[in-house]
Amino acid sequence: MAKEQTFIMIKPDGVRRGLVGEIIARFERKGFRIKALKMKWLTREEAERLYAEHKGKPFFEDLVRFVTSGPVVAMIIEGDSAVKVARLMIGPTDGREAPPGTIRGDYALSKGENVIHASDSPEKVWREASVFFSKEEVVGDY
Ligand code: RTP
Ligand code: MG
Repeated sequence: MAKEQTFIMIKPDGVRRGLVGEIIARFERKGFRIKALKMKWLTREEAERLYAEHKGKPFFEDLVRFVTSGPVVAMIIEGDSAVKVARLMIGPTDGREAPPGTIRGDYALSKGENVIHASDSPEKVWREASVFFSKEEVVGDY
C-alpha cells in the first residue's frame, strides 16, 4: 500500500501521566515520520468538532469533558498504511481489553480514559487534523 498520513492525539491522561515521549517514540521506531506536531488545550467547540460522529451518544458529554480537561498532543504521521497500522498499535477502545503490546493495552485501564486517539479511516484524517493544523503546518518530504 502507498504512503499514507494519519492523525494521532495523545489525550489529557497520557499528557498528565508523562507518556508523551514514550508514545511518540513507538511511532518513530515503527518507521513513521512525524509531519506535524502540536500541544493544545482544546475548547469545548473544538472537542465537539473532533468527536462530531459521537454527538448524541450517552458518553459524549463525558468524552468532551475529559478531552478538554487538560492539554493534548496532536500529530500527523506518515508511512505505509498509516491509518490501519496506527489503529493496530493503539489497540481496542477499552484499555482493560486491549492486548499487552498495544498502547492502550500497556498504558490504559479504562474505556473512557484511554490515553490516545487515532483516526479510524482515511476520510476522517484531515477532518480531525484540521482542528489542530493548517495544511501549511504539515512539513514536506524529508
Ligand atoms: P478514539 O476515537 O478516541 O480513537 O477511540 P475509538 O475509536 O477506539 O473509540 P470510539 O468509539 O470512537 O470512542 C471515542 C472515545 O470516546 C470514549 N468512550 N467512552 N464510556 C464509554 O462507554 C465510552 N465509549 C467511548 C473513549 O475515550 C473513546 O476512545
Ligand atoms: Mg473513534
